Amino acid sequence: MLPAYSPSAPAPPAAPSWLARYQAVRAQSQALCAPLLPEDTVVQPMIDVSPPKWHLAHTTWFWETFLLKEYAPGYQLFHPDYAFLFNSYYNSLGSRVNRADRGTLSRPPLADVLAYRAHVDAALATLLSAEAALPPAFYELLELGLQHEQQHQELLATDIKYILSTSPLAPAYIEENEESGMRNEELAGADNSSLSEASWLAVPGGIYRVGFQEEGFCFDNELAAHDVLVAHFELQNRLVTNADYLAFIDAGGYHDFRYWMGEGWDLAQAQGWEAPLYWVKRDDTWYRFTHHGLQPVALNAPVTHISFYEADAYANWAGARLPTEAEWETAARYFGATTRGGTWLESSLLDPQPLPADADPAACHQLLGDCWEWTYSAYHAYPGYARAAGALGEYNGKFMVNQLVLRGGSCATPENHIRISYRNFFHADKRWQFTGIRLARSFN
Ligand code: AVJ
Ligand code: FE
Repeated sequence: MLPAYSPSAPAPPAAPSWLARYQAVRAQSQALCAPLLPEDTVVQPMIDVSPPKWHLAHTTWFWETFLLKEYAPGYQLFHPDYAFLFNSYYNSLGSRVNRADRGTLSRPPLADVLAYRAHVDAALATLLSAEAALPPAFYELLELGLQHEQQHQELLATDIKYILSTSPLAPAYIEENEESGMRNEELAGADNSSLSEASWLAVPGGIYRVGFQEEGFCFDNELAAHDVLVAHFELQNRLVTNADYLAFIDAGGYHDFRYWMGEGWDLAQAQGWEAPLYWVKRDDTWYRFTHHGLQPVALNAPVTHISFYEADAYANWAGARLPTEAEWETAARYFGATTRGGTWLESSLLDPQPLPADADPAACHQLLGDCWEWTYSAYHAYPGYARAAGALGEYNGKFMVNQLVLRGGSCATPENHIRISYRNFFHADKRWQFTGIRLARSFN
């Protein structure tokens, strides 16, 4: 039997509510792929992007491997080769297709992957409807499976965007009257009426507790909760906007090494970066590729699709800095951040939204939702962290080197997936997630 994963697993509720949650999460993954053609689901235009077909299969493999094989009596594998095809990175579970080769998998066809999903969904439904009591460890894995599939929903949304962006036809994922239910009409356009100066909000210094300390689920990397010493600092009350960022571009920020980390400067030069990922200039006007096709850059919307290097260079240019992850979490707790008012996957806009014109300048906005916020903190283990035994010890712990922490969730994160203590992590050069910038400053 697999070891228990989360030390903070919820008490098992009645089976029907688990089944309803399972079915809703599984349906959301498939709904995200509904606007795609089968051909869209196969390609891998860069190593970080996985084909949507692969995401649909990998999440299914996760359920099969960690739950059904262990707990469903007499469960029959859908296909003996799928563990090789759809294991992502678990060395404990054997060899697999190289990450860079996921786009070579023209077989199995999408139809087979959908049949795989149906096979696993039926087995899970049978198991959850059975009279026999399942142990608490099963419910911990069930919760982890749901959270895992939600992580892949965000990756589906961002990977789909990248895939469509590489097509010379620049297809829109979200069209009006689309069966996806995605909304086009409310997308931030060129209306810049709510453009406002950011204000600085003070957070008093002190000893603060960070890490997961609530009820319910968390990933192992959010533990153990611990005290940190935070000096008095100030945080901007909103995300950096496209207008803010355009000032950096127009001031020659991409051509002045003084603002940049050496690594970032070299990369920006080598890649010819002049603006965030997805930006193109046509007749002196900036446009961005979005899930809604090519759209003019809305000045009052948060800037997104920037690397850590660009976020850091912008902060230096602006005479500020990025917050540490301890500062970010302390501020989010201090200002009582909630998901209300944020833009989420379920908002169906897949684009970070401007602050409303009447937003209170004394309140801290957009901490949760809209854009993941780069912090200037390395993704390292919290005190007392220990990798779980077995394959699931590979889930988060082995990535705790050479990456940076991002906080707060994005417009592609399922709303009930985020928490104030949630630690996302990516390498400093990554731009294809919905990443954004929050400025901090201190007075020593
Ligand atoms: C937390 C988003 C960095 O992309 O590998 C998916 C999420 N973990 N399956 C990743 C994840 C296992 C993870 N990130
Ligand atoms: Fe995964």
